[in-house]
Amino acid sequence: MGESGLGREREPSVMVEVHVQPGDAQRALRAEVLAGLCGERQPRELSPKWLYDERGSQLFDEITRLPEYYPTRREREILLAHAGEVVRASGADTLVELGSGSSEKTRLLLDAMRGTGQLRRFVPFDVSEAFLRQAARGVAREYPGLPVHAVVGDFERHLGRLPAGGRRLVAFLGGTIGNLKPAERARFYAELAAGLAPGEGLLLGTDLLKCRERLFAAYNDSAGVTAAFNRNVLSVLNRELGADFEPGCFEHLAPFDEENGWVEMRLISTRPQAVRLPALERYVNFAEGEVLRTEVSCKFRPEQVEAELSAAGLRLVERWTDAAGDFALSLALKR
Ligand code: SAH
Ligand code: TRP
Repeated sequence: MGESGLGREREPSVMVEVHVQPGDAQRALRAEVLAGLCGERQPRELSPKWLYDERGSQLFDEITRLPEYYPTRREREILLAHAGEVVRASGADTLVELGSGSSEKTRLLLDAMRGTGQLRRFVPFDVSEAFLRQAARGVAREYPGLPVHAVVGDFERHLGRLPAGGRRLVAFLGGTIGNLKPAERARFYAELAAGLAPGEGLLLGTDLLKCRERLFAAYNDSAGVTAAFNRNVLSVLNRELGADFEPGCFEHLAPFDEENGWVEMRLISTRPQAVRLPALERYVNFAEGEVLRTEVSCKFRPEQVEAELSAAGLRLVERWTDAAGDFALSLALKR
């Protein structure tokens, strides 16, 4: 069934389309480590997608259940109250989900679509292949007869490959949009909008600006799960590049950066150290206190979200927030 080199295969009722082969991911990781870790760039930086190997995806799932980590709970609260309205206002029969992860909250949208008889297809899209396959099978089992078409892809590179067909609503939940910096975000919105037909839409979850104490608690939890999630990226580098990072020699810290309006996930070298990167035939030196940035998580004002969407040709139709005003869900349709 290969189409321009894609791997396509059928599981019971799940079709999986693979745009990121393990070899591509390896090459991309090497290029990124050369530029972001070995180069002159300060601070040293990696793209967040490397956080989500199988273990990382599991740890993120644990984060979503932490008492301090409010975003998941708030977004679920909004979906519980408004999934029906979202689905009606979108008119969609196909639900696409970017960065789908466990697709746990997404079931509320699927239920609402099934309730109105609108549900024709589910398309979860994620870079983390093993976790995606498992999550897609779970949805297929719970929604017998629902075609599930999973796509392994990078939402910064493969939005042009989103399967067409039906009237699509693209859900991008969890505040993951905040993990893109402003310029990356603008490119993402433009590419997404370019692939949508007029009337198709985006359902976007965004975390809202709030006091720094609560932000700090959410990203520096007392049980240390976020720290384990962050340090796990070093194990990914060890496994994929044969590196010899000692995760114990890096400390997790995620402060709120007022100027940029984002929480910044840092790994901080606790001592001077040299790390071997055999796959690149390099060493990388860290001074004591030197920072490796692994992710940012932007926090938004609602009007800012609306303006950014509008600039990409996505017209805001409705916005919902939770009772505490912590998190927002915006529905925007392609003009
Ligand atoms: N939507 C879920 C998971 C959010 S965590 C929720 O709301 O809880 C972010 C998800 O995005 C992870 O599953 C991760 O694997 C995926 N992801 C991160 N970067 C990605 C990229 N560049 N392309 C596709 N998926 C990505
Ligand atoms: N998408 C999640 C968020 O922005 C990812 C995440 C979880 C994260 N823990 C984090 C990002 C810590 C930065 C810091 O909330």
